[in-house]
Amino acid sequence: MQFLPVFLNVRAQNCLVVGGGEVALRKAVLLDRAGARLRVVAPRVHSTLEALVVAGAGELRIREFRESDLDGVFLVVAATDDELVNAAVSEAAKSRGLPVNVVDKPSLCSFIVPSIVDRSPVVIAISSGGTSPILTRRIKEKIEILVPAAYGRLALMLGSFRSRVKGVIADGRGRARFWEHILSGPVPDKVFAGEEEDARRYIEQQLAVPEHQEVAGQVFLVGAGPGDPDLLTLKALRLMEEADVVLYDRLVSPEILQRVRPDAEKIHVGKERANHSVPQEQINEMLVRLAQEGKRVLRLKGGDPFIFGRGGEEIDRLAEAGIPFQVVPGITAASGCACYAGIPLTHRDCSQSVRFVTGHLRDESGELDWAELAKEQQTVVFYMGLVGLANICAQLMAHGAAPDMPMALVQQGTTDTQKVLTGTLETMPAMVAENEVKAPTIIIVGRVVGLQSRYAWFRKSALVQRDGMAG
Ligand SMILES: C[S@@+](CC[C@H](N)C(=O)[O-])C[C@H]1O[C@@H](n2cnc3c(N)ncnc32)[C@H](O)[C@@H]1O
Repeated sequence: MQFLPVFLNVRAQNCLVVGGGEVALRKAVLLDRAGARLRVVAPRVHSTLEALVVAGAGELRIREFRESDLDGVFLVVAATDDELVNAAVSEAAKSRGLPVNVVDKPSLCSFIVPSIVDRSPVVIAISSGGTSPILTRRIKEKIEILVPAAYGRLALMLGSFRSRVKGVIADGRGRARFWEHILSGPVPDKVFAGEEEDARRYIEQQLAVPEHQEVAGQVFLVGAGPGDPDLLTLKALRLMEEADVVLYDRLVSPEILQRVRPDAEKIHVGKERANHSVPQEQINEMLVRLAQEGKRVLRLKGGDPFIFGRGGEEIDRLAEAGIPFQVVPGITAASGCACYAGIPLTHRDCSQSVRFVTGHLRDESGELDWAELAKEQQTVVFYMGLVGLANICAQLMAHGAAPDMPMALVQQGTTDTQKVLTGTLETMPAMVAENEVKAPTIIIVGRVVGLQSRYAWFRKSALVQRDGMAG
């Protein structure tokens, strides 16, 4: 992050604007709206700016900038069209430790003024750190549509209940949950429709409901998808914003973790092949303990929690302990990686079914029905298959699969580092040995892989190699 977003209280503070033109006027209007006392210094001052200063009982100094203009000032804006003057103002302000903004010159600024969507008391600030004002404007337009003007009224009404709710629900987490309940109920719509009295009555009624006064813990087992944060479900995102504590796996990418509420406690519970940083039983017990402490616990797992995710074991322990839980599906690696690699998992010409199989085998032959997996007209997706890849290929061929059966290895699928290796059962072991392959990887076997050269759309250039395949 290049700049720390903060909201400054400038009410009744002297704020200096150096410059008297339209740009200075825009900044002065903003400062005035936030209650600042303006001091404007410039040899010539725009008549509207002059009127603004006079109306707010500010000061006009109709002359060039002098260092003494900084005396008693809280914040400085340089908005002249003279670069030398702007630089001098910036330097003088910085030497006094005063926050300074030079319009359109981020390198001279100690703070920048973001673009804002004003729904006072709700104010949304947007900044691109000076890189693209047009992009900032686009984002602002989207937010303007998304956040109706009535949000300000809603915020004021909720604010008027704050101390009352605090008096009834002593626990901070309980209060947060109460407000979430209120905001997901009819209150916002009532306020937007101008039915504030109804909304107030509803809040009063809900405050009297005993369950809202208790803090009961709950666990949400949530699938985070295969890596691309855009593949999170809306429900996953909402729960990530509401969690008190998050237990996450190695497969949950940093980009996804960034979307978790910043002040939620985040606990990495690992799980790499043969290196389970926290044993499963311990994870199960942690979930129970944290929920019993009254917390909203988010168990965030890569892909889908119920597909090779041991989700069943975790909720089994929760059910036993009587902890309420919910399970939220995620996009599983097979589906995410196949789509991003350009491999349809089924196809009416060559694959009428798809199987998800674990490649993490305790012994090399006995656990899977290889003869079934070797059949044509289907797609077989192996999770956790990299270590046993040579065995998978050998077993499939030994049980009747054609040596030229297409096969793909998708590495770090759906992420910016995705790579796809395509070959056949015969060629793939050597290809993997020759290429540097990074976990996680998924293996797709079937004639559908033959379509990949036509259908690849994501990071096309990241196709590492094709070997032994037609097309
Ligand atoms: C323990 S399993 C968890 C699967 C997860 N629950 C799901 O539904 O995707 C981990 C395996 O999923 C596969 N996997 C997960 N994310 C992946 C990705 N982004 N790219 C390739 N394979 C992935 C790999 O085979 C990895 O070894």
